[in-house]
Amino acid sequence: MNTEWLVVSKHVDNDEIYQQVVDSLLSGEVVAFPTETVYGLGAIATNEDAVQKIFQVKGRPADNPLIVHIASHEQVSRFVETIPPLATQLMENFWPGPLTLVFKRKPSVLAPSVTPNVETVGLRVPDHPVALRLLTQLDEPVAAPSANKSGRPSPTIAAHVYEDLQEIIPFILDGGQTGLGVESTVLDVTTTPPTLLRPGGVTKEQIEEVIGAIQLPNEQVSTAAPRSPGTKYKHYAPEAPLFLLPPDEQLLKQAIEQAMANGERVAVIGPDEYRTTQAEWYFSMGSIHRPEELAYNLYNALRACNHTFATIILAIEASTEGVGEAFMNRLSKAAEGKNYSGK
Ligand code: TXA
Ligand code: MG
Repeated sequence: MNTEWLVVSKHVDNDEIYQQVVDSLLSGEVVAFPTETVYGLGAIATNEDAVQKIFQVKGRPADNPLIVHIASHEQVSRFVETIPPLATQLMENFWPGPLTLVFKRKPSVLAPSVTPNVETVGLRVPDHPVALRLLTQLDEPVAAPSANKSGRPSPTIAAHVYEDLQEIIPFILDGGQTGLGVESTVLDVTTTPPTLLRPGGVTKEQIEEVIGAIQLPNEQVSTAAPRSPGTKYKHYAPEAPLFLLPPDEQLLKQAIEQAMANGERVAVIGPDEYRTTQAEWYFSMGSIHRPEELAYNLYNALRACNHTFATIILAIEASTEGVGEAFMNRLSKAAEGKNYSGK
């Protein structure tokens, strides 16, 4: 299948492009589109055959539920039994935006593969003009995971989607680089208090300012909330093994020297402040004082390592303030538990 790469620019009339993509989705195809977090791979969420294509295209484990994207919060009641008052407050404050809310779902409305083994559904209204126009024009819910092959870093530009999914999907809508660069926060509002299943673009502090204390999955006080099923799989990983390293110039120097002495070819991803020519490659993600820059550039840096001959990647840690929490969460997953110990 030939993949058409369609650039939607603010300066031209894109009607034909949107119509083409809408028609393709309505005919049961999967299509990649930008959101404010990362690119999504969408299918109509009520069409079982279309949703199954998402899993095939990505190589995604069948038991991992998909987030359903909708155009506005008025559509929630179509899919959800009851909307807890806290959830209404969150929707008013953060939608459209990078917050996915997990509700108890109505039975038999969505295609079964959207919510395998769970009685809940994750919903969000993306804050991106291309995604919103597509959803509005479609007037259908769109199930969409990140538009990468399973296990690989999420795509933040159309070229990342093309790299992973060329020849297997019909369209990529190119809306430029995504503004946030890490995925939405996933919050389960079926528990009391709500449970943070995945840190993301909306921070824990921002949520707590609106609804008070929330819990993490391992400190549940009431109903046992299922962890986000996706959290158990390999994620965001570049091809070479990646080791986490604290932000310490001496330790970095020592780590690079040691790896080189072992015959390794070293790539480093880190902030501007630690840039060094000692390693063969250094991919800078922005200032260590600006977590939003680090998040914006993270996946591009991980993918950039795949285009080098590096046999090992050292990744410099940052603070977990604000969106730094989501940044460190994704980086730790990419490391699969490997830390450089200095010994
Ligand atoms: O920013 C985002 O959330 C992006 C864009 C495209 O919207 N999407 C995204 O989807 O990151 P995905 O499939 O890569 O990650 C969704 C996560 C997975 O960890 C999944 O297990 C969890 O959300 N999830 C989805 N529905 C859930 C549910 N009903 N209960 C618990 N976790 C759920
Ligand atoms: Mg993903």
